[in-house]
Formats: sequence, C-alpha cells, structure tokens
Amino acid sequence: MTDKIPHLDAERLRNPKRRQLLAATGAVGLTGFLSGATLSGSAQAADVSGAPQNSKLLGFTGIPASTADAMVVAKGYRAEVLISWGEPLVDGAPAFDPEGKNSAADQEKQFGDNNDGMSFFPIDEHRGLLAINNEYVNEQYLFAHGGKKATSLEDVRKSQAAHGVSVVEIARQADNRWQVVRPSRYNRRITANTEMRFSGPAAGDKALQTAADPAGMKVFGTFGNCANGKTPWGTYLTCEENYDTYFGTKQADFKITPQQKRYTLEPNEPERNWSDFDERFDVAKNPNEFNRHGWIVEIDPMDPHSVPVKRTALGRFKHENAAVTVAKSGELVVYMGDDERGEYIYKFVSHGKVDNANPAANKTLLDEGTLYVAEFVGDHSGTPLKGTGRWLPLVHGQQGLTAENGFASQADVLINARAAADRVNATRMDRPEWIAVNPHDGRAYCTLTNNSKRGDEGMPVNAANPRPKNIYGQIIRWDEKGDATAKAFSWDIFALCGNPIAHPEGIYRGTPNITAENTFNSPDGLGFDRDGRLWILTDGKYSNKGDFEGQGNNQMLTGDPQTGEIRRFMVGPKSCELTGIAFTPDYKTLFVNVQHPGEEGDSHFPNNSPRPRSSVIMVTREDGGVIGA
Ligand code: FEO
Ligand code: CA
Ligand code: CA
Repeated sequence: MTDKIPHLDAERLRNPKRRQLLAATGAVGLTGFLSGATLSGSAQAADVSGAPQNSKLLGFTGIPASTADAMVVAKGYRAEVLISWGEPLVDGAPAFDPEGKNSAADQEKQFGDNNDGMSFFPIDEHRGLLAINNEYVNEQYLFAHGGKKATSLEDVRKSQAAHGVSVVEIARQADNRWQVVRPSRYNRRITANTEMRFSGPAAGDKALQTAADPAGMKVFGTFGNCANGKTPWGTYLTCEENYDTYFGTKQADFKITPQQKRYTLEPNEPERNWSDFDERFDVAKNPNEFNRHGWIVEIDPMDPHSVPVKRTALGRFKHENAAVTVAKSGELVVYMGDDERGEYIYKFVSHGKVDNANPAANKTLLDEGTLYVAEFVGDHSGTPLKGTGRWLPLVHGQQGLTAENGFASQADVLINARAAADRVNATRMDRPEWIAVNPHDGRAYCTLTNNSKRGDEGMPVNAANPRPKNIYGQIIRWDEKGDATAKAFSWDIFALCGNPIAHPEGIYRGTPNITAENTFNSPDGLGFDRDGRLWILTDGKYSNKGDFEGQGNNQMLTGDPQTGEIRRFMVGPKSCELTGIAFTPDYKTLFVNVQHPGEEGDSHFPNNSPRPRSSVIMVTREDGGVIGA
C-alpha cells in the first residue's frame, strides 16, 4: 500500500464555472480545502494529507476489492463460518430445512436471521457467550413460498421468531477456532414476542400504556435490532432501529399523528406486513404499541431466565449502536446514533458512578442520567472538516422543552427524543451509524454512512456534513473538552469517503487517505481493538459500476487513527453487508457477520447453499497471532 496519491488538480478547481457550481451546492470551501490543506484538528489529530505512511499499527497486507461470491481475507488469515441462520440452537431444535419449511415453532429454537451487532462474554479462557442481534429477515428465503410478504399468521410468527437476539455458547478448539456448544444452558432465543419490562423515566407513561398492558410496564419483544453495546458489568445492549417498518393498518380513515410521522411511520405501506395478521402491530387498533419500540434493551446473557429491560432514559429513536465508556470521573457514558437521513448523535451521562466493587449498584445507572444531543459547528477560521461542538441537554423544562411546546414531562422528551432534539436545534447528520471510542485517547468516532438527500431543500450542507448528494459517507470524530462527561468538544473528519477511480478530483474523490486501492462507500460498523486499530465495516452499494467502480462487494477495512492510513482486510460474498464485530479477550479470534448475502438473488453463500444464509464468521491467523497486528 505505497501507491502515490493522485493529487487534486488545482487548476481545474480554480475554473470559475466549476466554482460557481460548487458554490451553488455550498461545497466550494470544501473543494478548496481538499485541494491542498491538511487534516489536522487538535495536536493528536492524524495528518492524512499525504500518501499512506506505512502504518506500524497495521500488520497485514491490504487486499484488492472483490466481486466474488466468497469471503476473501488478508494473506495469512482464515475466515470460516461459525453458525448460520436456522441452525439448531436451544434444546429440541430441529435441523435447518434448506427449502424454508421449518415452522415458526422450529425457528423459535433456531439461530435467528440477519445477524448484526454482537458482543463476546467470556466464561473462562476456553468458553464464552456470543450475544448476537438478528436484525430482520430475508422473507424470500425465510418462507417456503419464496415471496417477500407474509401470507398468514404462521408466516408472521416465523418472521417474529427469526428476529431479536441469539445467545450462543461457544468453546475454543484448536488454532483459536471456536465451535457452538450444544446442548448449553446458556443458549437462548429472544424474539419479537419475548416478555420484557420498561425501566427509567418513561416506564409506565400514558403513551406506553395499551389494552394488554394498562400499566405501561410490560412489553413483548424486540425487533429491528441493529447494533449493540456492552456494559462494564457484563450485560448486553441491543439497539432497536427500523421498528417503524413493522407497523401499519388497513383502516382507510386512519390519521397519522405528528409524533408517528416524526418516526417515519408509513401506515398504509409497511415494509413488513405483520399488521395484516397480528393486531398488536395495527396502529389504528393499538396506537401506543408503536411507542413501545425504538429503545435500547439490556440483556443479561449469563442468566438465560433474565427478563430483558428497555431502558427509556437512553431515549427513543432509530438506535444504531451504544458505545459505552466510563468517564475519568466515573460516570457511565453512552454515545448513540439515530440512523436516518438528517438525524442526530446523542450522548447519555449517568448521574451515578460505576462501582466495580459492587456490580449490583450499577443496575440503575442506565435509568438515571442526562440525555444530550450534539451540535457541530464549523471551525472559527472557516476551515472545513473540523470545528467545535456542544452537547445540548434534553431535559424537561429547559431550552423550550416545556408543556407549551408539547413536552409535559421528561417521559415526553424521551419518547419523542427526535422532536426534543429538533427543538434545541441539534445538527442534522448524514445518517449516524456506529460510534466507537478509542481506548487509547478517549476520542469517539462515528460513521455517517451516506445521505443522498443532503443539499436538498430543508437539508443544507453544514460543516460536519459538507457534501451535497453524499453517496460515499464520512467518518467523523470528536475529542471531548475534558473527560467523556464534558459539555463541549472539538471534532474533525477522519475520512471523507470517496472514489478516486470514478472521481479523480473534486469533492467525491475523498480525503487523501482514500486511495484507488482502498476505496469504499457507506461506512457502517465500527470498532476499536485493544491496540487502537479502527475496524470499519461497510453497508453500501456493491454494483462496482459508475460512482462505485472498483469498490466491489461490502468489506471490512482497518484504519490507523494516528496516520489516517486505511487498508482493506476482508471482503464479503455477493450482495451482503459485513457487520458486527467482536474479539475474544486475547484478540486472536475476531467474529464478524455476513448479513443478507444474496439479497439480490445472486449468492449461494455459504457452502453452495441453495438459499443463501446470513452467518457469523470467525477470523483467525494461521500463525496464531493477534488479529491485525
Ligand atoms: Fe441497521 Fe443503520 O443499520
Ligand atoms: Ca448498520
Ligand atoms: Ca447501513
């Protein structure tokens, strides 16, 4: 990876016609910036202005893009399937039927579909649990009839059973490879019908009450479980994202409320037609059920009988992940993105402090605290790609979050967190996906995956989201002014993704750390390892044509936060997304997820499967070393 970076053509950037066009889109400052300046935020920031610097942190040779229907991984590594959708998991589970003939009752005992975020919980050196989200389903493969819509209550129940979370016990075999343990007292399926409870300021609120649960305290199920988090006391956080797509109604005179609209409910055209067969999801009949989803759920994977808890203090929106860190002063801090075009980045700060000596005392930390939303402003000097920001508290009674403005209580603020964030003028971002905190310097990184509508009416470019028609995305990072509880930060852009092959110059080329060799679009999953390598997973366009020429299938890359260098580590099979990232404590096994392979009908992953199957992949090194080193 020592290629020479094609430099931007300053002459063409000075072309008055081109400048007019860029000025019209608000991107002129950015182009000037990309033509020669360096990316240097604070003293610790990377200098990604020049060619790759042969990072000492990245110990593998980057691989080319791939369009093969196979996992491709860096030389010296193995990528193997650990478990796939439909495999037997809990006692009494039947074998997977490759023609989709397993029943809903079968699926309740089998590994769920579309595995996404996950965490590893060690039991001892050779055993551990993986808690794995099953975000949604590929109906065309789930149902024997092969259609995209459920055609019966049985179909809906099977779909619901394939959603949620799977807890899987695994044991280390030779060569740092792991194997699923069956039977296991830990193996568990949590589905869209599992009993859970609410906690925190919105628990019991009027807006959470239904005929089936007049107290507003007990709720069934979790679905749309995108990414995840892990607490210092060993519990799993699963994040409810596109829950709105499961609700609808056939009632012609149904009138959508402004609150439902703010959460993008499309009552007459739900993406998944559960409401046709299961009244709980009919928003005309059970309007408040819609408010009972869109939360972060805490699960104790070590206790298979534990009741999952929806933690309302963390706010209700389309949660991507929960990046948990402990502030120097001891408070628990959770960074969270709301993945939709123009939505916000949030931070929760607990009132109490983490008490490692007394884990029981930590149980209420996620119930009592302050939820903030981020405002990003441009640098005072006007230099794009860096600036400062503030965390704006979403507290009832403050900053217009009052009864006159529709917020009668803190429960109202949390249930309608998006509207509260609108009210305090937070910064609309380009689809915040995962956030990860560098264990070495506490700096937080967030993938802003893409936003094709940026620059359209109502969504102008801003300093942190500087490109109109942002088809490639960017990775932004911030440095708190103080510890993680700070109210202010400075920020810069670690990578403005782009494609130097399709766009050798200009704003879609990307920052200089994007090269013809590592080009990718739509960064999504994100995680740091112990040594501080930044792992980036993509969920983007895989046409390999036009704007996406040379980028191939979705992939995993590794970045050096200091030098800015990025190398491609792994590429997934056809029309999949690579997502989820979990390491064993020795960092010698990496688990990563292939989600929805063949969503375009073009894959037989894994093992020439007649119906492609989402799968957990384990990556190990042939020489037994630390991944990435
Ligand atoms: Fe489930 Fe925003 O990805
Ligand atoms: Ca995602
Ligand atoms: Ca995505």
